[in-house]
Amino acid sequence: MGSELIYRGHETQPKSNSYSPKPTKPWFFEIRPIRYILREQRLLFVLLGIVIATLFFTLLPSSSPISHSHFLSSELTQPTHRIFYQAHSVFSSGGGKIPLGLKRKGLRIVVTGGAGFVGSHLVDRLIARGDSVIVVDNFFTGRKENVMHHFGNPRFELIRHDVVEPLLLEVDQIYHLACPASPVHYKFNPFFLNYDFLGIHKTNVVGTLNMLGLAKRVGARFLLTSTSEVYGDPLQHPQVETYWGNVNPIGVRSCYDEGKRTAETLTMDYHRGAGVEVRIARIFNTYGPRMCIDDGRVVSNFVAQALRKEPLTVYGDGKQTRSFQYVSDLVEGLMRLMEGEHVGPFNLGNPGEFTMIELAQVVQETIDPNAKIEFRPNTEDDPHKRKPDITRAKDLLGWEPKVSLRKGLPLMVSDFRQRIFGDHKEDGASTTMPLS
Ligand SMILES: NC(=O)c1ccc[n+]([C@@H]2O[C@H](COP(=O)([O-])OP(=O)(O)OC[C@H]3O[C@@H](n4cnc5c(N)ncnc54)[C@H](O)[C@@H]3O)[C@@H](O)[C@H]2O)c1
Repeated sequence: MGSELIYRGHETQPKSNSYSPKPTKPWFFEIRPIRYILREQRLLFVLLGIVIATLFFTLLPSSSPISHSHFLSSELTQPTHRIFYQAHSVFSSGGGKIPLGLKRKGLRIVVTGGAGFVGSHLVDRLIARGDSVIVVDNFFTGRKENVMHHFGNPRFELIRHDVVEPLLLEVDQIYHLACPASPVHYKFNPFFLNYDFLGIHKTNVVGTLNMLGLAKRVGARFLLTSTSEVYGDPLQHPQVETYWGNVNPIGVRSCYDEGKRTAETLTMDYHRGAGVEVRIARIFNTYGPRMCIDDGRVVSNFVAQALRKEPLTVYGDGKQTRSFQYVSDLVEGLMRLMEGEHVGPFNLGNPGEFTMIELAQVVQETIDPNAKIEFRPNTEDDPHKRKPDITRAKDLLGWEPKVSLRKGLPLMVSDFRQRIFGDHKEDGASTTMPLS
């Protein structure tokens, strides 16, 4: 018995024997997904969906990606740190819209030397940004008072520890600042003269090795605070990062200069050999509140002397030049370097150049026009000129200093006045206000 199907098939057979090809369909009907979409108005629904999604994302309030100029104009004070959150995310994520009110996740950050002058200002900024900060410091030149205003904050921890000993911490970023930076300390404490006493060289070499080892182990990003001293007594002026320097390897300053040069080498070795994400900053003379009084650095010397009505001591003929950077500018540069995509090294300094005599005159204008200047023989290996070329930092980090010496010096003076004459409590918090 023939099936119905067979029967119908017969009905649809062409009557004649002549071959007629099937009518051709448009080519896109042959592609299954397109055929599916075109059938039964599905295309209409797809288009409708696209329109609704576009409207939704266009009308949703959002922060637009922040331009460099916006970032540059951001103040460093508390009320504006939201701007930094957004700019930070743009930096690290490479752009994109961030819905308003959405904050970036706080990072866990170690700051070695965080109780020192620069470190404590950096800690203030990181805490204000919403990060959790662990300060590691042996208080060789740092002071608890510099960070005391964070005590009790659950996002702040302080560990008394010498970086020449290994340390294991789970962190995202390491700012490695630990190293006494003033001439007074590095001239009287070279590692090889007094083995038991913590030495500058040992801190720079072993301490940096330990922190790089930590970065490698936990996959943290590592920033080294190197120095303009790596250029020694430079034969090139101003100093560009590509200049290799003119350093005496056996002089009284060598434990600092050569120690930092070795630290840079170690940093690059860990980067190339172990894939550690690193950043290198070469810092030029920096001044501001919380500097050690009487630490032998020229700005703190002059300010302390003028306040105490002592003559300002100028070593040599006073024609040697330096550039002076206010601490908030440096901290901004360090943070941009850490968040940016470039290893460096980057010069971070103020290109404004002053002779020692000019500096003494600015101090006289600011504190005491009658302060006397006293000349003394110069110290060994004192560089004649120092001035950063900051083109690279301007181009790649969008950074340049904003605070002139005449604007920054009075802030340092009021901090020194409080600490020298004790006319205010010494909790550090009153001097944290950085400038833009
Ligand atoms: N301030 C400047 O003008 C300047 C210039 C160039 C480079 N730097 C670099 O910036 C960094 C900070 O300088 P600063 O001016 O704040 O100096 P600072 O002396 O005020 O701070 C250094 C901090 O490191 C701590 N420290 C020293 N040795 C340590 C160790 N072995 N273990 C743990 N902690 C230790 C000190 O106690 C101090 O708190 C230093 O690495 C310095 O070389 C500073």
